[in-house]
Amino acid sequence: MVHKVKGAVVRSKNAPVTLETILVPEPGPGEALVDILTCGVCHTDLHYKQGAINDEFPFLLGHEATGVVSAVGPDVTEVAPGDRVVLNWRAVCGECRACRRGEPQYCFNTHNATQKMTLEDGTELSAALGIGAFAEKTLVAAGQCTKVDPDADPAAIGLLGCGVMAGLGAAINTGNVKRGDSVAVIGCGGVGVAAVAGAALAGATTVIAVDIDAKKLERAKELGATHTVDSSAVDPVEAIRELTGGFGADVVIDAVGRPETYRQAFYARDLAGTVVLVGVPSPDMTLELPLLDVFGRGGSLKSSWYGDCLPSRDFPMLIDLYRQGRLDLDAFVTERITINDIEAAFEKMHSGAVLRSVVEL
Ligand SMILES: NC(=O)c1ccc[n+]([C@@H]2O[C@H](COP(=O)([O-])OP(=O)(O)OC[C@H]3O[C@@H](n4cnc5c(N)ncnc54)[C@H](O)[C@@H]3O)[C@@H](O)[C@H]2O)c1
Ligand SMILES: [Zn+2]
Ligand SMILES: [Zn+2]
Repeated sequence: MVHKVKGAVVRSKNAPVTLETILVPEPGPGEALVDILTCGVCHTDLHYKQGAINDEFPFLLGHEATGVVSAVGPDVTEVAPGDRVVLNWRAVCGECRACRRGEPQYCFNTHNATQKMTLEDGTELSAALGIGAFAEKTLVAAGQCTKVDPDADPAAIGLLGCGVMAGLGAAINTGNVKRGDSVAVIGCGGVGVAAVAGAALAGATTVIAVDIDAKKLERAKELGATHTVDSSAVDPVEAIRELTGGFGADVVIDAVGRPETYRQAFYARDLAGTVVLVGVPSPDMTLELPLLDVFGRGGSLKSSWYGDCLPSRDFPMLIDLYRQGRLDLDAFVTERITINDIEAAFEKMHSGAVLRSVVEL
């Protein structure tokens, strides 16, 4: 049986998001069918629309989702119909060279559904990050379903499925922020503010939020920033150095992903400090740095894929912290919208008013 549902599709580069009937197959081996409850609008969805991820149009957008498993393939044991799940986009394989050496967070062969969802005319859809959750139902690999507490607000915990996990993990996992560290975060959208919250949670004593938009800086303060820098008005490298005794921060997180913000991160960190790139650059971007500075400043330059998270370890732990009032996931949900409002939500990303718009299906 094939399920006919509504989904938000982009047919070609920069085309508007349209609501289309999509066909979702029954789950085969290793797959799960999920009824979507909520799905956040992430900047990565906009990157897909702009053709900045790849050219495999048409895309079925959406990937920060909570849902309920409605059916599973014949051999699936990790989840069952009725389970409340947050979807993840890195279902580890357990067999590749990263998994074998005990570093599954770097898995080089993560799993998605084998079968494709299609438009009514049979055109295969590319599901954003292998999820495609701006739809009433989606088909994923069973390992992409992380079972969670059914009582937690789906709109809030679904954000762990991408941006908030990426930001928290960029600080906690990739940046390895420790008690007493100084941390600067450049770009305070959903990902960056989560990095601010992650740095605060890990015990950083100086947490500097940097953005070109003053409204974003207010949010960052609410979520744990001790200082803010408006980089449209002042030089962020100078400002971060001033706030850290003239030295620079121990960890600087670039949650924008542009050559200019990366360069700021590189020079705003202390000697032997860490730069974490969690913002995603587009294919046309290149970076030039004096190689002697790369050597002379020491430390490490890291990228953070999905906050180097392990969904099965990190989602339930973070949901516990949320329930205990120690991680304010509700603060990330700025507005709840319908599937018709995704294009407007992309516009609001630029206006600075919104941390996350969450679609309720
Ligand atoms: N690494 C991952 O696994 C992962 C996961 C999710 C998202 N991302 C990426 O993270 C980035 C941020 O995503 P988001 O959803 O928070 O986006 P967003 O649009 O909500 O936020 C981006 C923020 O950056 C600010 N900004 C833009 N240019 C700036 C500049 N030059 N200096 C300082 N601030 C600037 C904007 O004002 C905004 O507040 C995107 O590139 C997204 O694709 C990465
Ligand atoms: Zn693997
Ligand atoms: Zn995302």
